[in-house]
Amino acid sequence: MKLLKTNPATTKAWSKLTSHFKDTQHTHLKELFESDPNRAAEFTIRWNDFIVDFSKNRISKKTLDLLLELAEEIGLQKAMEAYFKGGEINETEGRSVLHTALRAKKEDVITVEGTNVIPEVFAVKEHIKTFTEAIISGKKKGHTGKPFTTVVNIGIGGSDLGPAMVVDALAFYKNHLKTYFVSNIDGDHVNEILKELDPETTLFVVVSKTFTTQETLSNATTIKEWFLQHARQEDIASHFAAVSTNTEKIAEFGIASENVFPMWDWVGGRFSLWSAVGLTIALAVGYDHFDGLLKGAHQMDEHFKTADFDQNIPVVLALISIWYNNFHGAETEALIPYTQYLSRFPAYLQQGIMESNGKSVDQNGNRVSYETGTIIWGEPGTNSQHAFFQLIHQGTKLIPADFIGFKESLHGNVDHHHKLMANFFAQTEALMNGKTAAQVKKELGDVSMGQSQIDILLPFKVFEGNKPTNTLLIDKLTPQSLGSLIALYEHKIFVQGIVWNIFSYDQWGVELGKQLAKTILGDIQNSEIGNHDSSTLSLLQFFKG
Ligand code: F6P
Repeated sequence: MKLLKTNPATTKAWSKLTSHFKDTQHTHLKELFESDPNRAAEFTIRWNDFIVDFSKNRISKKTLDLLLELAEEIGLQKAMEAYFKGGEINETEGRSVLHTALRAKKEDVITVEGTNVIPEVFAVKEHIKTFTEAIISGKKKGHTGKPFTTVVNIGIGGSDLGPAMVVDALAFYKNHLKTYFVSNIDGDHVNEILKELDPETTLFVVVSKTFTTQETLSNATTIKEWFLQHARQEDIASHFAAVSTNTEKIAEFGIASENVFPMWDWVGGRFSLWSAVGLTIALAVGYDHFDGLLKGAHQMDEHFKTADFDQNIPVVLALISIWYNNFHGAETEALIPYTQYLSRFPAYLQQGIMESNGKSVDQNGNRVSYETGTIIWGEPGTNSQHAFFQLIHQGTKLIPADFIGFKESLHGNVDHHHKLMANFFAQTEALMNGKTAAQVKKELGDVSMGQSQIDILLPFKVFEGNKPTNTLLIDKLTPQSLGSLIALYEHKIFVQGIVWNIFSYDQWGVELGKQLAKTILGDIQNSEIGNHDSSTLSLLQFFKG
C-alpha cells in the first residue's frame, strides 16, 4: 500500500488547469450564474442532514472535471485505500494513520502490524463509558466522599484543542459537570483556573500522547502540588486520570492504573479527540453523546470512502481549495461558523490543517515548486462581520470562505435565529454579487445626494463581488452532525496532502522551537548564557537583569 508520490505540477491535469486558469481568471461569478440557470443544483451535494452548496465558486463544470482529473492522476483512490486500511502513510514516523478506526464498527477488521485494532478500540471505549458514567452519576467520589462537580483537562495542541472545541460546541448537551482546560505553560493560565477549584470535588484528566510535553507535565505537576496541599498522596488515585501512549510515564506520575486510558501511535494528536483524548468530552456530555459524535464521523468516513469523487464532499472541497491556492494564488481561507457554539472550530482546524499541510518538502524529499498548506482563520458570524469582513469584501486579497450554518437553532428563539441566518445568506450573496457603480449611483440618487458628492463617494462604495464561498447548511448542531463536520475537514486535509504530495501526518516543524527552548531554559536558570546570535543574547541578558 504505497503512495504514488507524484509531483502534481508534472501531471497533465495540472498543465490543463494552468491554461484553463488563464482563460477563465477574469470570469465573474455573476456571469457563471447568468449562463447556467441550473448552476446551484449542479454544484450542490446533499448528503444526510448536510447541504453543501459550492456553486458560489469561480469554477465551471470544466474546472471541476480538470480538478477531478488531477485527483485521478495523483492516485487519490489508491491513497484512500491505504489510509483506511492502515497503510504506513505517515512514513517519516513509520506509522499508520487510523483515526478512522476509532469510529469504525465493532465488526470491522483493521490491522496494524498483523493485529486487528478494533477489539482494543472497543475495550477503551467501554472503559470510557464505565468511568464517565461513574463520575457523572456520583458513584465515583472524591477523597472526602463528595461527588465530583468539576473536570480539568490538562493538555496542549491535539490533547486540548479537540476536546475544548467539542465541549464548547456541545455546550447545549452538557450535564452538571463544570469543565476547564489548562494548556498554556504561562502560569497565569493554571493559576486563574486553580482559583475556581475545590480540591474535594475536582477531577483532573492529564492528556498527553507522549507524556513528555513540557507544558502538560509542568501544569500537571503544579496542579498535583496544589492538590497535595489539601489532600494526601493516596488521594491522587481518586482525583487524577491520564490518557497517553506512554503508560510507564503515567505510572511515574503516580496515577492509579484503573484511571489510565491508553491510546496508540497510529492516532495523530490533532486527530485524537475520538480516542480517550475525548474523555473530557464524554464526561461533559455523557458517553451516549460522545458515541453520537463518533457515529457521525463514521458516517462521513463511509461517504468519503464510497461516494463518487464529483459527489464527494471532502474531495470536492479539497479540490476547490487547491484551485484557489495553486492557481488563483489565494493564501488564506476563512472559516465562518454561524453559531457561537463553534467559536473554537477555526482554532481547532488551524492545528488540524496547518500542522498537517504546512510542509515544503514533498514525499520524495524534494523541495516543492508549488504552494501547499493554506492559512486558516475565522471567527463566528455575525461577530466577524463587524470585525474583518471589510477586508474580505473590499480588500485586495482573495479569501475563499466556508460558511457553516444550521437550519434549526438549539435555543428555539426563532427571532434570533432568523436574524442570524439572514446575515448568513446575505453575506455570501453580497460577496458574490458585490455592488455595481450603477447600483451605487441609484442608491445615492434616491437619498437626494448631489452629483458631485456622488462622484466623490462612488469608488468607495462599489463592491467588485466575485468573492468565492462554500455554504454548508446542516439541519441542526447535534453530536452526530458535529462528528460528520469534523471528519469532513479531516478528509479534506488528507486529500490536499495527497495531491500536494506531502506527508500530512508528521509535524517536525514544531520540534526546533521545543529544542531551543530547552537550551534557553538552561541559560535562564544557570549563571552562564551559552552561544546565541547577538539579538537573542542581548534579550536574554536584559531578561536576566
Ligand atoms: O505541537 C506539537 C504536538 O506534538 C502536537 O502535534 C500535539 O497535538 C501536541 O504537541 C501535544 O502533544 P502530546 O499529546 O504528546 O502532549
